[in-house]
Amino acid sequence: MHVCICNALPERKVHQALRAGVRTAEGVYAHHGCDVQCGKCLPAMRAVVDAYVTVADRRAPGDDRDALAAAAE
Ligand code: FES
Repeated sequence: MHVCICNALPERKVHQALRAGVRTAEGVYAHHGCDVQCGKCLPAMRAVVDAYVTVADRRAPGDDRDALAAAAE
């Protein structure tokens, strides 16, 4: 499913940016060489980023599982 229609960014590509260390919605667009166009996706993009960052921050030291995998458990 696309998070951003204007830039054709599926959730898979958003997760790819997060795994690469991106921690802001704006950073996701920049990671993929694009910018916000209409902005309708920003709330959803921020929700995906915030959920990932929250899980990543709560992981115990030494837990090197990917945050997406940890969130799914
Ligand atoms: S849907 Fe993402 S900028 Fe328009």
